[in-house]
Amino acid sequence: MCGIVGYVGPRSAQDVVVDGLRRLEYRGYDSAGIALVGEGDEVVVAKKAGKLANLEKVLADEPVEVAHTGIGHTRWATHGPPNDPNAHPHRGCASRVAVVHNGIIENFADLRARLEADDHVLVSETDTETVAHLLEMQVASGEDLTVAMQRVCQMLDGAFTLVAVDAEDPDRVVAARRNSPLVVGVGEGEMFLGSDVAAFIEHTREALELGQDQVVTLTREGVEVTDFAGRPAEATRYHVDWDLSAAEKDGHDWFMRKEIFEQPRAVADSLLGRRTREGLLQLDEMRLSDDEVRSIDKIIIIAAGTSFYAGLVAKYAIEHWCRVPVEVELSSEFRYRDPILDYSTLVVAISQSGETADTLQAIRHARAQRSKVLAICNTNGSTIPRESDAVIYTHAGPEIGVASTKGFLTQLVACYLLALYVAQVKGTRFGDEIAEILQQLEAMPDHIQSVLDGAEQVYDLARQHVDTKSVLFLGRHAGYPVALEGALKLKEIAYLHAEGFAAGELKHGPIALIEQDLPVLCVVPPRGRDQLHEKMLSGIQEVRARGARTICLAEAGDERIRPYADELVALPQVPVLLQPLVSVVPLQLFACELATALGHDVDQPRNLAKSVTVE
Ligand code: F6R
Repeated sequence: MCGIVGYVGPRSAQDVVVDGLRRLEYRGYDSAGIALVGEGDEVVVAKKAGKLANLEKVLADEPVEVAHTGIGHTRWATHGPPNDPNAHPHRGCASRVAVVHNGIIENFADLRARLEADDHVLVSETDTETVAHLLEMQVASGEDLTVAMQRVCQMLDGAFTLVAVDAEDPDRVVAARRNSPLVVGVGEGEMFLGSDVAAFIEHTREALELGQDQVVTLTREGVEVTDFAGRPAEATRYHVDWDLSAAEKDGHDWFMRKEIFEQPRAVADSLLGRRTREGLLQLDEMRLSDDEVRSIDKIIIIAAGTSFYAGLVAKYAIEHWCRVPVEVELSSEFRYRDPILDYSTLVVAISQSGETADTLQAIRHARAQRSKVLAICNTNGSTIPRESDAVIYTHAGPEIGVASTKGFLTQLVACYLLALYVAQVKGTRFGDEIAEILQQLEAMPDHIQSVLDGAEQVYDLARQHVDTKSVLFLGRHAGYPVALEGALKLKEIAYLHAEGFAAGELKHGPIALIEQDLPVLCVVPPRGRDQLHEKMLSGIQEVRARGARTICLAEAGDERIRPYADELVALPQVPVLLQPLVSVVPLQLFACELATALGHDVDQPRNLAKSVTVE
């Protein structure tokens, strides 16, 4: 949510910052802007409402002087509508300091009132502009920008990443973070800042992970980190294990489509290196002892959106393999219901970005109640794994399309691994059973590839639905979260009314929605579970009898489904608990192709942002 870039070094700061914003645009695209520090005594700012292309046009029409220090921002609006004045960067009265911000400053109304009482003129409706004025007051009184930032941060409540420049100190960029992401890119004679490493990956793969409540000062020569009180602080250095090609579309029209097709690789990578030489499962960072795992008597999974649906699938696997009760809860709701937690409850936080504010606050609440927290996360160095007791990293690589796809599949893999790990430690499954399931998991990349090989059939189906106003999705058991996820994908990128239902629940109300030719996508469980399969067939017959057009996803060779399917998409034969790994793929392809046919921007759907860092 909001992308932030900073640069100091020998290159054109405008080029570096605008390129960085292009790679971060998925985080917000309500407006974009840059601030450059050149020869003059004012910071030069260019900003424009709308996508980055609008800013690029402004810069092409009215070129600005070349500068070597700069900051930039791509916005997902919180305070104030997405117009030019509210676009970042913001400046103080003298235009000496400019600042960009991600997050929400909760006490901004007080700060603003105090500034206005002191005759400051604020020209935007944002909370950020108050910070520009406060910083400018500090530097005008003789402090350097680093001290100014430390002092101002102590006045702020809420979550923020701030990055600022001072026209009178042209070789310095200063940033601060609290509850909001920021990473430093370390180059040779140049330094970078970004909300994530994609901002600077084409220049350096050496990064610094900043801690909570830290201020960082960047010059060409190096980086200095302090806390808000000015005391020296440590930042952790790491090497980014993917390169620029991972952040490019690679011949596809959308990042989302590229990411769907990367899923066999992403799933395979997420399974790599999970077994010890003795064949036992191991997790990435397990700061929980075997005794602590054995004492777990309840698991609560917290997550948002697509990650929440991964959690719903996990419930089926964990309860079946580990015999431990599992609750799955939206992280935004978790804190407010006063959940019953103690040291024997394991809280599992699933987050692709590792920065989702609702999930972060939920894990803090859980830890305050003495529960252990295990994170499932795709982003190295992000806040959620840092604040957890244990981590399973997924290896999807950067997910840039706003709609999550490979993030979801790799979260499923991590959930299966977690379930098997708990089963191994608690002894609820025999070693050979665990080994057999691991083998089945290892076969999944090929199965996913076979679904992708049939993409044209799904694309044809999607293109037949450009005039559709509503689509329903049905599933049972582990296929139910898949139905929910299929509906979410369609809402997000095709802006269609779409709903997912548990097939057995239809007759309790939703069946009233069925009308002639309404498309209903049905996720049919494998036949291994005869009862489940039969019950699903009944649900499909019920909607078809009322005029629905049924598009059934069923395993190859399932002849029983044929009479009830207006369209049949074949899935590979896989175990019922693992079926979500293949059954969700046609639903992703369907949404991507339908949104494309409708002329929507698939990677940057309206009103959304990739990483939701505000509650
Ligand atoms: C849907 C989507 C969102 C995210 C949700 C959680 O396609 O991307 O629903 O799944 O915002 O994000 P993370 O997993 O980063 O916590």
